Amino acid sequence: MNFPIIAPSVLSADFANLGRDVEMINNSEADWFHVDVMDGVFVPNISFGFPIIKSIQKLAKKPLDVHLMIVQPERYIKDFKEVGAEILSVHYEACTHLHRTIGAIKEEGMKAGVAINPHTPIHLLKDIIKDIDLVCMMSVNPGFGGQKFIEQTYTKCADLKALILASGSNCLIEIDGGVNEHTGPKLLASGADVLVAGNYVFASKDPVITIASLKKLGSDTSNPS
Ligand code: DX5
Ligand code: ZN
Repeated sequence: MNFPIIAPSVLSADFANLGRDVEMINNSEADWFHVDVMDGVFVPNISFGFPIIKSIQKLAKKPLDVHLMIVQPERYIKDFKEVGAEILSVHYEACTHLHRTIGAIKEEGMKAGVAINPHTPIHLLKDIIKDIDLVCMMSVNPGFGGQKFIEQTYTKCADLKALILASGSNCLIEIDGGVNEHTGPKLLASGADVLVAGNYVFASKDPVITIASLKKLGSDTSNPS
């Protein structure tokens, strides 16, 4: 895999032209589709559910990276597998039995991720880091696209990188929220592997070029992973 992994967030797509936007991502240098599922309980917004994800999956030529912002995500693991999730992330704050939930995601043959809110400290991941494939670090409060990036994320990202290296985990660091040409380079220098971008990609004049410019950030920084 060529780093950074770029995962445009479908949340910012034009839902009336979803097929067109999925094709745009297929034909770009993007690596994954980032798919945000919101239940109106864990976060103050509702996005979309299974039928939409299934429609994306039918057209998508790249893996679906599904970010669940829902309570009790363990109830729906099989359903997300069925609609085509390859990477499934659950929120640390939404899981009482996180270890069990991660095990269940892997048993379904998916990669397992843990998403953390901006207030959740890195050290809480110490006893799960070796069991997971990805940490989705929120750099905004989850619920909406187009929000302002929280600056503390850089330090937090570096701390997570140190934890991963110290534990011998192969876990990837994904940054979600407010990624653009200013925050991207600093995030990569702090150890990020995956950049999610919604508004920055879809509100740009030419999303394919914007995606290519994010991908190119990898050749300008020295990310050891
Ligand atoms: C926010 C979502 C993000 C969002 C990112 O709750 O998890 O994936 O789509 O959007 P931007 O890049 O616009 O901040
Ligand atoms: Zn997300």
